[in-house]
Amino acid sequence: MRTPIPDYLTEILDSLRSGDGGAVADYIPSLKTADAELFAVAITTVDGRSYTAGDCDVEFSIQSMSKPFAYAAALADRGEDIVADHVGVDPSGEAFNELSLETGSHRPRNPMINAGAITAHSLLVGPGASIEERVERALGFFSQLAGRRLSIDESIRESELATADRNLSIAHMLRSYGIIDDDPHDVVAGYTAQCSITVTVRDIAMMAATLAAGGVHPVSGQRIIDRHASRRTLSVMAAAGMYDAAGSWFNDVGIPAKSGVAGGLLGALPGQVGIGSFSPRLDDHGNSVRGVKVFRRLSADMGLHLM
Ligand code: DON
Repeated sequence: MRTPIPDYLTEILDSLRSGDGGAVADYIPSLKTADAELFAVAITTVDGRSYTAGDCDVEFSIQSMSKPFAYAAALADRGEDIVADHVGVDPSGEAFNELSLETGSHRPRNPMINAGAITAHSLLVGPGASIEERVERALGFFSQLAGRRLSIDESIRESELATADRNLSIAHMLRSYGIIDDDPHDVVAGYTAQCSITVTVRDIAMMAATLAAGGVHPVSGQRIIDRHASRRTLSVMAAAGMYDAAGSWFNDVGIPAKSGVAGGLLGALPGQVGIGSFSPRLDDHGNSVRGVKVFRRLSADMGLHLM
């Protein structure tokens, strides 16, 4: 007899609960107190069926998993050419919080690292938009993708903004090169609010499944992202979503993915599924230790790799 999918997912979580290393992120004060034992997984198929296990209703901040969706929104708001003038699509080979600008153009190498994501955030809505307009654009768009109204965790936003020296210095460098036009403090404030939007694994699996479906929401059937923008977003996730571990990730797992420093990990397999996992302990690249293991298992068991 075949194992029902939820039992199979529970079995994966149970088999990976003990014996892992890693540490919760500590450079953002309010993430330091996260419960390191939380563990959840969710899968949503492109035709809208969802399966979950573990702490699947616990909310956590989306953090860097916001980056592909903000990039998709920037492509919709400003068009491919303007976005391409500001941010590249190549792997940086460096950590997520390095400046990693291209020589010559000074564009950040991709929208998955902080420099590129700060730039993508600054492109939302249109030139001269306010912080509030850009944050509402991200919040409204992410909510549409999740299929429910999401919100911002104010304590995470405040705690991260109070210690955002590194992102502020990145934003100042970006403005000095003319990559962003707005006040660096405003852009980082908006980007930080975007990273503080809270989600569950159910939400991220649904958001990822929308990308996997080429931009059509798996439940509502509504087109939310243009097909070409979905493809471009999935491509940069494949190239750089796991930062300087992107190559080994793709070799092992073979699914375009994006991690977040609160412990979330999302993957989107074109034409098939969106996957979300949550476990707060991170490896040296800033990727969830147990999340990476969950994806490895799913990829191997379900034949999700390229071939
Ligand atoms: O900008 C930052 O540092 C955080 N808001 C997001 C970083 C992040 O999630 C890195 N990913 N694993």
